[in-house]
Amino acid sequence: MENLWQQIDALRSEIGSITTTRPEEIEAFRIKYLGSKGAVKQLMNAMKEVPVDQKKEAGQLLNDFKSFVAAHYEQLLASVPSEQESTTIDVSLPGQPFPLGSRHPVTLMKNRIISIFQRLGFAVAEGPEIEDDWHNFGALNLPPHHPARDMQDTFYIQQNPDWVLRTHTSSVQIREMEKGKLPIRMLMPGRVFRNETVSARSHCFFHQIEGLYIDEQVSFADLKQTLYFFVKEMYGADVKVRFRPSYFPFTEPSAEMDVSCFICSGDGCPVCKKSGWVEILGCGMVHPNVLSNCGIDPEKYSGFAFGMGVERPAMLKYGVSDLRLFSENDVRFLQQFAAAT
Ligand code: DAH
Repeated sequence: MENLWQQIDALRSEIGSITTTRPEEIEAFRIKYLGSKGAVKQLMNAMKEVPVDQKKEAGQLLNDFKSFVAAHYEQLLASVPSEQESTTIDVSLPGQPFPLGSRHPVTLMKNRIISIFQRLGFAVAEGPEIEDDWHNFGALNLPPHHPARDMQDTFYIQQNPDWVLRTHTSSVQIREMEKGKLPIRMLMPGRVFRNETVSARSHCFFHQIEGLYIDEQVSFADLKQTLYFFVKEMYGADVKVRFRPSYFPFTEPSAEMDVSCFICSGDGCPVCKKSGWVEILGCGMVHPNVLSNCGIDPEKYSGFAFGMGVERPAMLKYGVSDLRLFSENDVRFLQQFAAAT
């Protein structure tokens, strides 16, 4: 009994001096004193040796001791700092980087062009890439056997040659006019297809943006002013513009618009083929036949249209020398436009 008393006394002072906040040390404490082979258990076993008349007193002593150990254990557990308290935020740490995708250069150029015309009140519309002969040709004043059909090498759908892969976005003009809602001030971006050999300078598909403005008393002067605005916004105030007479079946008169070469400022370089001018679009006043084909009275309404390629200005802006890069989906190429606008 004396012995038991001494042992407990020694353990009390040993335990009383244990302070730790580390969970693994607290667990070691539990095993050492409260575990199935721990100190408390061993003392309990030693109870067998205690003479009967002292058992009650010894039992009391042991129970007190057990409560003391348990209480100390609880105290240690409570002293462990919670996760939140221990994590102080280091505001000087750099943020977690997350990978940003990049827009395709053709999309970037398309958006750029659209945003300029949107400021003039042009809305955006799209049409189908597979078109019927009427929308791609007929309604645009290109009846069957019209020689100008050869201006564009067409992909025909084999099962039904009345269907084609659209050769230009001018087909979307027809779809907009057919809706019969006037006036129209629309921009129509999209992919077009032509049966051409794929090379660094030409491809069997590429992108165009079509413009259409129909209202009462629209004149060629409106066309010129609209395109002047576009050129100044796109290429800067110093760039010169010239219109050359041209031919498109769906416009009369027709023109092609050139800008002074923005690479060499007109001095002559490979981009402008030493001419000092770069052709950027075709345009004209919508042909009266086209208006009538779409149910619009050409006596009352007039309008202008224009169509431009997207790849070429994108190549010039981003210094891309091979058209095929745009459609090869090479991530090394595409990644370079992550920060571009
Ligand atoms: N569709 C023509 C082409 O693909 C471009 C064009 C020229 C569109 C004159 C027009 C236009 O709207 O008025 O070559």
